[in-house]
Amino acid sequence: MTAPHAFWLAGREATGEDTFDVTNSWDGRLVGTVSVPTEEQVEEAVAAAHAVRDEFAATPAHVRAAALDHVSKRLTERTEEIAQIVSAENGKPIKWARGEVGRAVSVFRFAAEEARRYNAGDAQRLDTDAGGVGRLALTRRVPRGTVLGIAPFNFPLNLSAHKVAPAIAVGAPIILKPAPATPISSLILGELLAETDLPAGSWSVLPVPNDRMPALVKDERLPVISFTGSGPVGWSILDSVPRKHVTLELGGNGAAVVLADWSSEADLDWAAQRIATFSNYQGGQSCISVQRVIADASLYERLLPKVVAAVEAQVTGDPSDPATEVGPLVSEDAAKRVESWVDEAVAAGAKLLAGGKREGATYAPTVLADVPADVTIACEEVFGPVLTITKADDEAAAFAAVNDSPYGLQAGVFTHDLKTAFRAHRALEVGGVVVGDVPSYRADQMPYGGAKQSGVGREGVRYAMDDYTYERVLVMTGLDL
Ligand code: SIN
Repeated sequence: MTAPHAFWLAGREATGEDTFDVTNSWDGRLVGTVSVPTEEQVEEAVAAAHAVRDEFAATPAHVRAAALDHVSKRLTERTEEIAQIVSAENGKPIKWARGEVGRAVSVFRFAAEEARRYNAGDAQRLDTDAGGVGRLALTRRVPRGTVLGIAPFNFPLNLSAHKVAPAIAVGAPIILKPAPATPISSLILGELLAETDLPAGSWSVLPVPNDRMPALVKDERLPVISFTGSGPVGWSILDSVPRKHVTLELGGNGAAVVLADWSSEADLDWAAQRIATFSNYQGGQSCISVQRVIADASLYERLLPKVVAAVEAQVTGDPSDPATEVGPLVSEDAAKRVESWVDEAVAAGAKLLAGGKREGATYAPTVLADVPADVTIACEEVFGPVLTITKADDEAAAFAAVNDSPYGLQAGVFTHDLKTAFRAHRALEVGGVVVGDVPSYRADQMPYGGAKQSGVGREGVRYAMDDYTYERVLVMTGLDL
């Protein structure tokens, strides 16, 4: 029996009294056993973060940047090993896991670059009114305090990177709580952080069980919470600590709109291919995977068979096989939930055009048409490999359909027309509009986050740095301006 994975308590390795197992949802094998911090150890980590916050905020930018560069470089060196771990603990196909590690490499590199240029500050002359003659305002951004980063299972490494890297970049201590299903890649991230000169206490990785999360959330020494996960949990965090600075990256039911001008065979082939791939990547377990396809009525009949064929061509199977595009969901329970939502829709009259079958934790890539508006899958985030397809009479109807959702994370609009792109950008109630592609496109440096029930705040390295800091002004008087 191998020893349990240690966790990271104020920058050093530690083990607690209990452990839990991480298993692979494809074949049920044990991926690893993880040590759980005791209450006392959690207290120690939080106290250390609180104690080091001023020192960390004062750490020179080059020290923070060097640490971030180091992590980026080491992730590059250990890509294959870490990708195998991400794939094993999450069940995602190895090709997507490799891509995820590559993205984390970039997140740490972007954070290093931002750490060097952030906080250049702003100088504002105040003599625009008589009372401000001889006065100058200088601003700088200062950390709000220690960040509690709560990461999800679907991108266990990269969404942990999105919590940790911006915190280090601004000099804010961070306590990272990985998802219980996928903690091992975050613990490896801890190994890389431990190779840096960051002050002890400035970071911890604590795989605490979800039922102990409320105590951490309420801890006054953790004034910033960055959460990625489900809506009910996210909103309950915000409701429980309304005076804290809380950012929530929650769900979505991403729409891909195919407009009338996107009509050549090549256009439709590309749209169908992208829709099929990004409805099913990660088993659909991405907040910006394609859940809703809204096609202009003029091309619906031509697009539909292409989408169905492209979905049926997705290679489903063992996530460790490089050819596999769609692996299992994170658990059999998750696949059963998806199955029940599809079954509900079909029983209510939806047409099943592809998929609709479950085997263990794997759910077949699925296409549904004519879905009644009131079934669960039409209203909620499915977080599985299922798309629905509907017709819209024109652009206005298509945009209205996108907005007819409690969520607003990202939308994709297939059009060649620049004016249409600008209209989409203005009209769609989402955090991001992607023109000529699916909603699933995300570059890690761009602002990322939702409107409506999809959350509050933004990730994307510099945008998270803004969220982790506040602006402090210095007024100088008696100056000869
Ligand atoms: C998410 O599921 O919210 C993250 C999507 C991504 O980073 O690509």
